Amino acid sequence: MYIQDAKFNVEKEVELKGWLYNSRSSGKLIFLLVRDGTGIIQCVVSKNEIGDEVFEKARKVTQESSLTVNGVLHEEKRAPGGYELIVKDLNILQIAEDYPITPKEHGIAFLMEHRHLWLRSKRQWAILRIRSRIEKSLRDFLDSQGFVLIDAPILTPSAAESTTTLFQTDYFGTPAYLSQSGQLYMEAACMAFGKVYCFGPTFRSEKSKTRRHLTEFWMLEPEIAYISFEENLALQENMITFAVKEVLRNCREELSIIGRDTKLLEKIEPPFPKIHYREALEILKENGKELQWGDDPGGDEETILSQEFNKPVFVHHFPVGMKAFYMKPDPDDPKTVLAADLLAPEGYGEIIGGSQRIDDYDLLLRNIKDNNLPEDSYKWFLDLRKYGSVPHGGFGIGLERTLAWIAKLPHVRETIPFPRLLEKIYP
Ligand code: 4AD
Ligand code: MG
Repeated sequence: MYIQDAKFNVEKEVELKGWLYNSRSSGKLIFLLVRDGTGIIQCVVSKNEIGDEVFEKARKVTQESSLTVNGVLHEEKRAPGGYELIVKDLNILQIAEDYPITPKEHGIAFLMEHRHLWLRSKRQWAILRIRSRIEKSLRDFLDSQGFVLIDAPILTPSAAESTTTLFQTDYFGTPAYLSQSGQLYMEAACMAFGKVYCFGPTFRSEKSKTRRHLTEFWMLEPEIAYISFEENLALQENMITFAVKEVLRNCREELSIIGRDTKLLEKIEPPFPKIHYREALEILKENGKELQWGDDPGGDEETILSQEFNKPVFVHHFPVGMKAFYMKPDPDDPKTVLAADLLAPEGYGEIIGGSQRIDDYDLLLRNIKDNNLPEDSYKWFLDLRKYGSVPHGGFGIGLERTLAWIAKLPHVRETIPFPRLLEKIYP
């Protein structure tokens, strides 16, 4: 039996296969908290009922030792989780000696060194299950709308975002880069399939040591042919709302383990507030941060902006040249581009970056040249503007930052099973 299926097995004789999470004893009773990956359950070992041999085994078993337990399952309001196993037999597979993560408090550096074991703790279990639910709900949302999943390459010949954050590697004598974004490939794919998305790891050699930067993170990137800028924002609102509702519906236990107050999450509904870059500068000025036209709001500025609203907020129409080379200028205001970042509330900041893409061959070529990008490696990308060019757009949502917000975590290092941070690649 898996612990998550306890409710279907009340008063039945079952076998659990797991690990010892914690234990305590009082005289002739030992309480074993056993976890099996799906949950934790209290197992009661009574000396009077099972005899010395099994009782001795229960006494010997240490934290994180692997074991199987047989017994009868009862409903028990007072036990954690509401069920309890009365042990009849117990089998130890391996005794764990000196398990390094004890129930006491540990420093973050120590826990990060032991990430491979830290994953077994309740809080990490809860966080990564919410991650899994967010991934599923984002994909379910797009799949239900007829999007096709198209996998983008990881080894790429050219930059999709800033050339200053490229991880370079040697590809049989020519330089290649770990993908910063699958977007350019999705632009090709949406001309073949209409509505597409990719979902995979992306890499940025970010020299920043902040609570929101990883060097390897997962991004989901939809790209849609013939979409308008407004439709693109509506798609993002609906997708975020769906994911939040799915987490609230399916992850109650996980949210309660990490102590997430869900009041604000319950209120997430479209439409989200939308502010022009110009208005963002004004709000920042009122809060004592004076940015010039063309300055890119950084982490601190995003925190200020996101604290102004109880819902995610779009900041749109950035100055031309401030962000990526592929963003389309607004025909009604050509000093700005049809682009928007979505900032998560409660101080979290950017979780989505998206835009309309340049569909004009000459303008795109000029931008590639102006940005000193090697024209040859973008020939295929320019082709898309030569053979049936259409208005199109999309966005990229960072999974870890989205999870950090939904679970209200202080740092992205807990949002990914094995975080890659500035100068940290172990374990
Ligand atoms: O804003 P970014 O750089 O946009 C793109 O890469 C576009 N090509 C996406 C697209 O339109 N298809 O990144 C998108 C999102 C950010 O909003 C953020 O959530 C996440 O990716 N992100 C990071 N997450 C963790 N660590 C980092 N170093 C991140 N850099 C970006
Ligand atoms: Mg961005």
